[in-house]
Amino acid sequence: MRVGTVKEIKNHEYRVGLTPESVRELVAHGHEVWVETGAGSGIGASDEDYRAAGGTIKPTAAEIFAECEMVVKVKEPQAVERAQLRKGQILYTYLHLAPDPEQTADLVRSGVTAIAYETVTGVDNSLPLLKPMSQVAGRMSIQAGATALEKANGGRGVLLGGVPGVLPAKVVVIGGGVVGFNAAQMAVGLGADVTILDRDPGVLERLDSHFEGRARTLYSGRAALAAEVAEADLVIGAVLVPGAAAPKLVTRDMLKTMKPGAVLVDVAIDQGGCFETSKATTHAEPTYVVDGIVHYCVANMPGAVARTSTYALNNVTLPHALRIADMGWKAALKANPHLAAGLNVHEGQITYEAVAGDLGYDYVPTESLLG
Ligand SMILES: NC(=O)c1ccc[n+]([C@@H]2O[C@H](COP(=O)([O-])OP(=O)(O)OC[C@H]3O[C@@H](n4cnc5c(N)ncnc54)[C@H](O)[C@@H]3O)[C@@H](O)[C@H]2O)c1
Repeated sequence: MRVGTVKEIKNHEYRVGLTPESVRELVAHGHEVWVETGAGSGIGASDEDYRAAGGTIKPTAAEIFAECEMVVKVKEPQAVERAQLRKGQILYTYLHLAPDPEQTADLVRSGVTAIAYETVTGVDNSLPLLKPMSQVAGRMSIQAGATALEKANGGRGVLLGGVPGVLPAKVVVIGGGVVGFNAAQMAVGLGADVTILDRDPGVLERLDSHFEGRARTLYSGRAALAAEVAEADLVIGAVLVPGAAAPKLVTRDMLKTMKPGAVLVDVAIDQGGCFETSKATTHAEPTYVVDGIVHYCVANMPGAVARTSTYALNNVTLPHALRIADMGWKAALKANPHLAAGLNVHEGQITYEAVAGDLGYDYVPTESLLG
């Protein structure tokens, strides 16, 4: 199959769909890979790196959209990209269609076969192509919080790990899923005093047995949460209620109970945020202060570490890309129901029930297309 990847054009997107290593794998499987010039510049991968991996460098994205049977990307196609998609072509990328009627209409019109990273499932009904970005954001949240705690950045001037003779900072992680677990790991590693709150007894049990006392777990009731937040130097918001906006667990009133210069990092900001006073920020200006409390609410945290994020993403997207290229999309989806869950649009039909329901399209089950 002829597979292509293009330079991402969404604002401040530095990741790329295929690393040179992924290109090498596809080429080893007998495929031809076209790469737009400069596609890897955001992760430090040059055209020469892609050529050395067996890729063919093309001067424009247009050639890739016109000639490649599958296009592998990171972000949803932008309007100018969508105009170049066509019937008989496979698009493999993050799409997030449900809140995006414009993009959905364009994909339907184009006739493209669109497989969305975010709906591909794993054995335990997890979402393995979303997981690495949560891992990145969770780990980064502690770095971001530690920086915001520095005096010059408006923080209370506290070092997370303390030093001999001085107590470490108190870190409270709300939500012990993928983001929360990775945040807690980093905070524990730095020597902070860590408490993780969650509502799921299974999650609390897993965390408790993993950390063996190096982080405490606590059921996330209102009173417990308020008491922990009041004592915290750094609070990480990492809750997720699937399919819903994040619950506002830290209210504006609670900020008054906190220590001046304490820091809130709201990783759940992409779902509306779990602090009442959160509003989305950017890497260019990541923090702001409300009632003396520093807020960090960057919605696309993994973008700041584009190289790590790209490699983490390719680790989980490449095996399916190889399957699709080796077998063709239909046989690959038929052989692998987890990959089949990724099909969102095919030749003008919506094959993902929630997207069809939310946006008022007829739903065509993927199985009915696979024969
Ligand atoms: N800002 C970013 O760049 C970025 C990057 C990746 C993920 N995220 C977001 O981070 C959030 C967390 O993602 P995840 O992958 O860790 O999800 P996850 O499903 O693995 O974990 C969420 C956890 O929240 C817990 N929870 C739900 N309600 C709670 C409550 N009231 N109190 C305490 N815990 C509660 C759940 O039991 C679960 O363990 C999501 O909103 C995700 O979209 C943001």
